[in-house]
Amino acid sequence: MSPVKRLEKLYEGKAKIIYATDDPDLVIQYFKDDATAFDGKKKGAITDKGVLNNRISEHLFGVLAEAGIENQFVSCPSEREMLCKRLEIIQVEMIGRNIAAGSLAKRIGVPEGTVLRVPIVETYYKSDELGDPMLCDEHIFMLELATPEQLETMRETTRKINQVLTDYMVGRDIRLVDFKVEFGLHKGRVMLGDEISPDTCRLWDQDTNEKLDKDRFRRDLGSVEEAYQEVARRICG
Ligand code: TMP
Ligand code: ASP
Repeated sequence: MSPVKRLEKLYEGKAKIIYATDDPDLVIQYFKDDATAFDGKKKGAITDKGVLNNRISEHLFGVLAEAGIENQFVSCPSEREMLCKRLEIIQVEMIGRNIAAGSLAKRIGVPEGTVLRVPIVETYYKSDELGDPMLCDEHIFMLELATPEQLETMRETTRKINQVLTDYMVGRDIRLVDFKVEFGLHKGRVMLGDEISPDTCRLWDQDTNEKLDKDRFRRDLGSVEEAYQEVARRICG
């Protein structure tokens, strides 16, 4: 099979660019080094982040596929490019949480680091203009962002992803604190898309709770590149 050709830019987000290809069912997701936080108000770059996030996402999509969780991944034509099934992204961000941190710790007054009695799944509106507000099911149906069946599938799949990734990371001395995943429709089916990386997960060292994720950038903790490198080393071997 001849390699697919990268064509025009379809969409540019804060950390990635999506390109069309000569196959209408496939797109190329290009990982940038740009980093933003607080809905784009804080801007910067993390050296080689694009390469590392592509590598980590490729690996974790593989782990999930092996566990039976269907996802967009096809191949990596280059170190910053991922060839993916073309998805129509559902504008609901699914967040899975095992340990209180970030906005949850703030919202419900539970100290950061508290292990949750049961894992939690939350839903947010993917909208920078509105600051990604949390949505309840009724909001999602009223805005027609997803049907009840699609939302149920996304919620159940997010719980399964949490189980699979938590187990996988324990063996690599990483605690999966929380994570964000996005889904889309491919030929009418709900499928996991986007990326799974230190940009979209909170990852703490198993023994020391040292932060190995984008919170190092958000909170100006230093050693950001080193943390991403360390996650790639532990996850991809
Ligand atoms: P939060 O505590 O700020 O709500 O973040 C929860 C998780 O979601 C954390 O792992 C970081 C990830 N996340 C994103 O991937 N994109 C975002 O825009 C936000 C706000 C969080
Ligand atoms: N990616 C989001 C932004 O740029 C938020 C974050 O990851 O903290 O605003």
